[in-house]
Amino acid sequence: MTAQLINGNDLSAKLRADVAQRAAALKARGITPGLAVVLVGDNPASQVYVRNKVKACADNGLHSVLEKHPADMSEADLLALVDRLNKDASIHGILVQLPLPAHIDAQKVIESIAPEKDVDGFHVASAGALMVGQPGFWPCTPYGCMKMLESIGYDLKGKHAVVIGRSNIVGKPMALMLLQKDATVTVCHSRTKDLKAQTLQADVIVAAVGKRDVLTFDMVKPGAVVIDVGMNRDDAGKLCGDVDFEGVSKVASYITPVPGGVGPMTITMLLVNTIEAAERL
Ligand code: GUN
Repeated sequence: MTAQLINGNDLSAKLRADVAQRAAALKARGITPGLAVVLVGDNPASQVYVRNKVKACADNGLHSVLEKHPADMSEADLLALVDRLNKDASIHGILVQLPLPAHIDAQKVIESIAPEKDVDGFHVASAGALMVGQPGFWPCTPYGCMKMLESIGYDLKGKHAVVIGRSNIVGKPMALMLLQKDATVTVCHSRTKDLKAQTLQADVIVAAVGKRDVLTFDMVKPGAVVIDVGMNRDDAGKLCGDVDFEGVSKVASYITPVPGGVGPMTITMLLVNTIEAAERL
């Protein structure tokens, strides 16, 4: 079997066109959807992510404000900035890029964001809403993974999904979203005793660890759908995911590539959440 690709660039283009249309409709009502992106410090990867987020806003009719601050910004000043953005009527979504410098309590900053502007979906109110199936913002990366499964018409009901990774940003919310669609969900992590025994049972595998070759061809049931959230570098410095793409694409029915898979979907879902925040007003 040679797996079909789920192309995150193509799907993103479709979803972003819808975002642009909704942004235009809001503008016709006198509302310009606005996103504030807060970057503290000079983490090189964060700088790239933030630049891409700001550009995606501009390309799709959203207004964005980049709040760039030095690494020695105090926690109190950052909390004051979030408070100002919470009160700013031109801002519908607030994103504080992670990681934050070590002297700042990231969770405290996230909890200071008004839940109705929490387009990252990291606030406990958003996490709680997802947990109990109430409306709220879903974290962008797992939300993007769900859209990718939806794009191939995949019915999760009764399927066995294995999520590798238990982060608050991807693994845990991913498991809840899959559960909400009636999958039987197993969450694996660094202390899982026999990962292969778990993944071989799976109809759907989501790899979200941040380590190369976490999933190899011998760990995948023929015909399984594989979603690769990883973003790593190989020995040659080339971008790669958590999945051994070459091997696994020989057994899977569908697979997401890296780059061009989940990556663009994360920013797309941020745009979707921001439009949603503006429309809810
Ligand atoms: N750092 C890595 N991924 C993310 C993300 O999705 N949102 C934020 N705010 N920071 C991140």
